[in-house]
Amino acid sequence: MDAIVLLKDDHKTVEKLFKEFEKAGDGAHKKKRDIVDKIIEELTTHAYIEEEIFYPAAREGAPDTVDHILESVEEHHVVVWMLSELRGMDPEDERFVPKVTVLMENVRHHVEEEEEEWFPKVREAMGRNRLQELGERMEKAKAKAPADPLAVSSAGK
Ligand SMILES: [Fe+2]
Ligand SMILES: [Fe+2]
Repeated sequence: MDAIVLLKDDHKTVEKLFKEFEKAGDGAHKKKRDIVDKIIEELTTHAYIEEEIFYPAAREGAPDTVDHILESVEEHHVVVWMLSELRGMDPEDERFVPKVTVLMENVRHHVEEEEEEWFPKVREAMGRNRLQELGERMEKAKAKAPADPLAVSSAGK
């Protein structure tokens, strides 16, 4: 599996969960809590494999993208702290839905930058074989991803 295809598939999975969240009715607290649990799991795993494998490899193989990568890490930082706050939060808390809304805004912006602004440069610089090899490593690394969003390195803990 090509590394960038794998990452884009993850982005699609998360976007589907976001849409489900947006469609859930006002009173659907339990449903929203369940969706957010899945979002936390997906995004933590995704941030982990990007930070452990893809970002360092891109930095080495496509050095021109370094500014994008460093900005992406700071965006992850905000996201993983938000995920950690959402982790134990009562879905009826008045801050729950607004926090998820801001999380979704942040992630959508982040994904757009990855897909439009710098992943294409990485593809061009690194080529198919290297991306294939990275994709395989990331696929395997998913099993080692932490459950705690703050265990991802961008959290800075
Ligand atoms: Fe990312
Ligand atoms: Fe991503």
